[in-house]
Amino acid sequence: VRRFRSWLEDQLETLASNHRLRVAPELEGPSRVRPSSSGAPLISFSSNDYLGLASDPALARAAAAAAAAEGFGAGAARLVAGDLPAHRALEAALAAFTGRPAALLFPTGYQTNLGVITALAGPDDLIVSDAANHASLIDACRLSRSKVAIYRHTDATDARRALAAPPARHRFLVTESLFSMDGDAAPLLDLANAAADADAILIVDEAHALGVLGPGGRGLCAAVGVTPDVLVGTLGKAFGAAGGFAAGDAALRAYLLNRARTFVFTTGPPPPVAAAARAALEIIRSPSGDERRRSLAANRDQLGARLRQLGVIGDVPAGPIIPVILGADDDAVVAAAALRTLGFFVPAIRPPTVPEGTARLRVTLSSEHRPADIDAFATALARVLR
Ligand SMILES: Cc1ncc(COP(=O)(O)O)c(C=O)c1O
Repeated sequence: VRRFRSWLEDQLETLASNHRLRVAPELEGPSRVRPSSSGAPLISFSSNDYLGLASDPALARAAAAAAAAEGFGAGAARLVAGDLPAHRALEAALAAFTGRPAALLFPTGYQTNLGVITALAGPDDLIVSDAANHASLIDACRLSRSKVAIYRHTDATDARRALAAPPARHRFLVTESLFSMDGDAAPLLDLANAAADADAILIVDEAHALGVLGPGGRGLCAAVGVTPDVLVGTLGKAFGAAGGFAAGDAALRAYLLNRARTFVFTTGPPPPVAAAARAALEIIRSPSGDERRRSLAANRDQLGARLRQLGVIGDVPAGPIIPVILGADDDAVVAAAALRTLGFFVPAIRPPTVPEGTARLRVTLSSEHRPADIDAFATALARVLR
């Protein structure tokens, strides 16, 4: 035990000396845009609460009503004890929203990706995966024991090459639609064509796009008319709640319900969380959702223009994630700390979350930021990076 403890301490020291030791910042308050830290107000550009729904009273009301009607915890895995009205209603609403016949709810987006890919793909299969795909997709590919071929980020020609490679029972093409750390969009039409030509199953993770981008917030697949075989979404980002889901045809849902281990062997999502996610979806589909998306896009344009002027980004991204790439880990950490002293909270993202030498400030916008917040933040950033 002593040897193990000193190993742990060594690991932590190595992380610290490489500027890679992470701590979760201690913040308070209901708002993800205006939290406070030990009572001091901050303006945050860090969360994925893109539409300000995490603190919307409609979600809290829906959660309280569901807790009263259905209890808080689901009590067991849904197949065992807990398939409750809140789960079923949310799945029906998500299927309608994504325009697919069926949806299956998971406790988180991470578990959705793990469950979907390990249920569908095995050692005789080939998975072709974007180089910048999220950790949950990487872990899912590894756990599936499939052959995995990584293609260059957003390069549909390279994906096509990788799909043509070795013989396989089934081929899968897996991509995010809006990338979580780079903020750029996948070439979904070209990828869908590459998948169709190789008779490959297309899995698209719309974690950062659903609710935010595309017609009525229905995501980037809907924007270009692509219907993936499996569409993955999360309810913890623009939806302001928690959970994840896979949408597709009825056979897919029935198969995942039987075979996705992160569905079968885990307690069902708490009904109040599912009810809050459904309340969020109602707002996302309403005129208030359109209004929030318009504010978010205006905020993105305002900050994007300032950051371009400063020369710290190239193109203004398609969505609310703006990476300011600084390169060295300590540059990103020092910049984030300096912004914090000026009243702004932005996370420094370092390897292994992003590739070596691309440490960055990951700036995310919300519809709840005001033009004056963005102006003040851009001025502070210019000062810090000078
Ligand atoms: C692309 C992508 N997929 C899946 C997830 C996991 O979703 P969740 O936070 O709901 O587990 C994330 C982020 O957390 C993500 O960025």
